[in-house]
Amino acid sequence: MDKLRIGIVGVGVIATTKHMGTLTKYPDVEIVALCDIVKDKCDKANAKFGLSAKVYADYRDLCSDPGVDVVHICTPNAIHAEIALFAFDHGKHVHCEKPMACTYEDAQKMIAAQKKAGKKLTVGLQWRFSPQCLYIRDLAKQGYFGDIYYMKSSQLRGRRLPAYGSYTIKAINGGGMLMDGGPHSIDLPMYLTGDYEPASVRGVTMDRMKNDVQGNDLGPWNPAEFDVEDSAFALLTMKSGKTIYIETAWICNMEQASPGMQVSLAGTKAGADMVGDFGTGVRLLQILNGKKAVTVPNLGGMPGMRPSYDNNDYELRRWVDAIKQDKDPAILPQEAAVVTRIIEGIYESARTGRTVTFD
Ligand SMILES: NC(=O)c1ccc[n+]([C@@H]2O[C@H](COP(=O)([O-])OP(=O)(O)OC[C@H]3O[C@@H](n4cnc5c(N)ncnc54)[C@H](O)[C@@H]3O)[C@@H](O)[C@H]2O)c1
Repeated sequence: MDKLRIGIVGVGVIATTKHMGTLTKYPDVEIVALCDIVKDKCDKANAKFGLSAKVYADYRDLCSDPGVDVVHICTPNAIHAEIALFAFDHGKHVHCEKPMACTYEDAQKMIAAQKKAGKKLTVGLQWRFSPQCLYIRDLAKQGYFGDIYYMKSSQLRGRRLPAYGSYTIKAINGGGMLMDGGPHSIDLPMYLTGDYEPASVRGVTMDRMKNDVQGNDLGPWNPAEFDVEDSAFALLTMKSGKTIYIETAWICNMEQASPGMQVSLAGTKAGADMVGDFGTGVRLLQILNGKKAVTVPNLGGMPGMRPSYDNNDYELRRWVDAIKQDKDPAILPQEAAVVTRIIEGIYESARTGRTVTFD
């Protein structure tokens, strides 16, 4: 069996947890190269996972290494598109962490470059593949909910700002919570219904909590290096007539705040709520025999268990198979580009105070 040779650019938290933690379990994959501007991170990752991957400080060197088939981009957001374009120019497949890019224009450039290179592109949106999302999506496909007309996508993290790395610096990450948690919260309702055709968005972004560093789950941050939003709220309408309310916050003084992604939906026949931390439970609401009834399906696994490792495996196994078997990845770049387009629309709406429409 030929091993797929993967190089990872940006060896921080997501590279060492999701990517290396999952890919090193696959016998048909080898991590052959690591690149980080902090070389020590590559050395430590090599030691931790028992690898002897080549170490680079410049992504151009990793992307032009003929021994690399696939480049995984795990750097901060502002440089995603630049690395992807360079990798396609050098004949590599690309897995890019979310958000795909900081602008819709860059996302489109990435898709054009991928097509020109005849290579594959996917984006890290593994929350789609949590048991609760797959369950609700299956029901939606079967028509269980009837016509879904309203959805709410909520990611109010309580006090969970990623104080490590550079998440609070716009020049490096393109934005704050909307660029960080936003991609998942915008993608999930669209994935659940398979509807990626936005009509308009009205959004606001806020930084009201940026100076309140107390009690953060991930430690204190430096307010002097904080020029992004800590929360973003938006009303999205779809061409199909659906309305989607999106609420995302790193810091939020609400008791109901949960660290994970929760989506609720209302259809003409039934509805669903993801409940609990990380949205691991599902409650279905419908009328049975003339009475309101709530059903709590057993999705398997441990109650309340964070399922993200399964999500990662689901996403990355399908990604590797897509390359090996020359088929579409489970996460299509066109869908991730729509997510970036909506994020851009929310920023524009927040800046101008107007609704942004999409053609
Ligand atoms: N899919 C998910 O759920 C998920 C979760 C967390 C992070 N992410 C995404 O992963 C990316 C990285 O996030 P993180 O939490 O791992 O951040 P991090 O700060 O822990 O890691 C980023 C790494 O990139 C390195 N880096 C920066 N610029 C570089 C460059 N030009 N060349 C090479 N290396 C460079 C940094 O030194 C750092 O080690 C972000 O885009 C983030 O949105 C996705």
